[in-house]
Amino acid sequence: MAISYLVPYRRTHNPWAEIKEILADLKNLASQPDYVEAVKLNTEFFRATRSPISYLCWLVFKAPKLRRNRAKVTELADLPLPRWQKAVLETLSFFEEWMPTLLPIKNRVVRELEKLKESKQEPIVVASLGCGGMELERQIIYQLIRKRFCFPAVFIGVDYSAASLEVATSKFQNLTSKGLVHMQTITHLGNNELAKLKAQAASQGFMVVSLRNDAFALKELAENSFDLVYHARLRHHLTSEEARKLDELANHLAPNLVELDDIFSVRAIIIMSIFMWRFPAILNGGILSCLRDYSKRELRLKRENGWQVDMSGRHLECYLGVREKINSTEI
Ligand SMILES: C[S@@+](CC[C@H](N)C(=O)[O-])C[C@H]1O[C@@H](n2cnc3c(N)ncnc32)[C@H](O)[C@@H]1O
Repeated sequence: MAISYLVPYRRTHNPWAEIKEILADLKNLASQPDYVEAVKLNTEFFRATRSPISYLCWLVFKAPKLRRNRAKVTELADLPLPRWQKAVLETLSFFEEWMPTLLPIKNRVVRELEKLKESKQEPIVVASLGCGGMELERQIIYQLIRKRFCFPAVFIGVDYSAASLEVATSKFQNLTSKGLVHMQTITHLGNNELAKLKAQAASQGFMVVSLRNDAFALKELAENSFDLVYHARLRHHLTSEEARKLDELANHLAPNLVELDDIFSVRAIIIMSIFMWRFPAILNGGILSCLRDYSKRELRLKRENGWQVDMSGRHLECYLGVREKINSTEI
């Protein structure tokens, strides 16, 4: 296990020094017009985390306003600050490795792959949009290996952040060094590149491809290029217009879409505030993500739009959404 997984819990971790460094990085970014609002919001957040009282005031007076205006919320990890993107992705992967927060989507994707294996002649190709550190793919592949799933499959992880590739590469080191998985990195995926990957996969078993690009760049691919498209904890990063486009894109790219994200609740905010208090960058990701998440009421409405939605988890709740291809005008 890479030692970096333990970073959030190292004893020498100094939250005050971290807040100071984050505030300095935000100050440097403030001169870029695209990030003025995001820098202001995040600076307020990190100043508040300097004391429990000011953080409590932020939670009581500021957080409800952000929830009402959540399309404008940008997390620290959404900003072009690779150091903090990496810290947040590593910690998210850490939690996902040790807590069952990916279980519903992992089980669902494995089930879909087993079904596909029965009907396919050529390698299965699936795409994970906003794949982050690819912890989900690591868990899926381990499960498939345990189940002796002997069928070539290509996992294409799409993410535009450089931190994603770094974290994913260290995650798969164990499997790649044993020759159980072949990993490669690309920056563009067109129809020709996809055909080549499939041909390669036919002789290689499991292939993991890290595609460092915007997920929306996949729209140039032919219809049903993938057997399955899924994403975990991506939706809350998108504006409502981007979320609509993402549904359209997924509907174009595959016959099935599976997604997982967390559900907004005051209880989740309280739990995260207590347990993440010593880790300001992580606290920022947890709390601002939660403020952007769907509520249970919104998820019930989603059911009316052709989605099958299952909610799970007791204290930190999440939902699994599944949808089969529909007529694009219905999106
Ligand atoms: C909260 S992380 C989730 C990572 C991973 N799916 C997981 O559950 O551990 C969201 C990821 O989506 C990526 N992302 C957001 N918008 C994206 C886009 N338009 N194209 C590609 N990646 C995107 C971010 O860079 C980030 O790594």
